[in-house]
Amino acid sequence: MLKVEETQPVEFSSALLAKFDEIVKRYPEGKQKSALLPLLHLVQAEYGWTSVPAMDKVAEYLKIQPIEVYEVASFYTMYFLQPKGKYVLEVCRTGPCCLVGAEKIMDHIEQKLGVKEGEVTADGLFSWRGVECLAACGFGPVLQIGPEYTFYENLTEQSVDQLIDDLRKK
Ligand code: FES
Repeated sequence: MLKVEETQPVEFSSALLAKFDEIVKRYPEGKQKSALLPLLHLVQAEYGWTSVPAMDKVAEYLKIQPIEVYEVASFYTMYFLQPKGKYVLEVCRTGPCCLVGAEKIMDHIEQKLGVKEGEVTADGLFSWRGVECLAACGFGPVLQIGPEYTFYENLTEQSVDQLIDDLRKK
């Protein structure tokens, strides 16, 4: 996975630009901005996250203002505006899950991985963050892991340890 630092200029590969062209063709002439969401997904898959230079380049490609890209990317939580691990453990931190120990689970993940929320482990494998309700309130504490957004429910410290160990072995 390529990593792009905040200030590093970005040059999209011809393969990536060909995918952009393919997606933009699906929309009527002059409505190329409609392709913004899938283009940002492609950028994130290529670079691991959605940096400002990459968003600027997308704006240039779509012939729109950078702010139009920033406002979309910062609205949807599936776009990461800072580097992330290969696996992002997203723990529900909303009330019902907190009542059954979500905060304890987050403390445990922080301790187990040795990184604070939003940070990336030295091997690049993991990061974690608290997120709002994942709509599995009856099965808390709950976490999800993208990009498939697999759910892990009724978490305990032991099941979290097992999950992390299994992911390390992948
Ligand atoms: S409160 Fe955690 S899934 Fe709804």
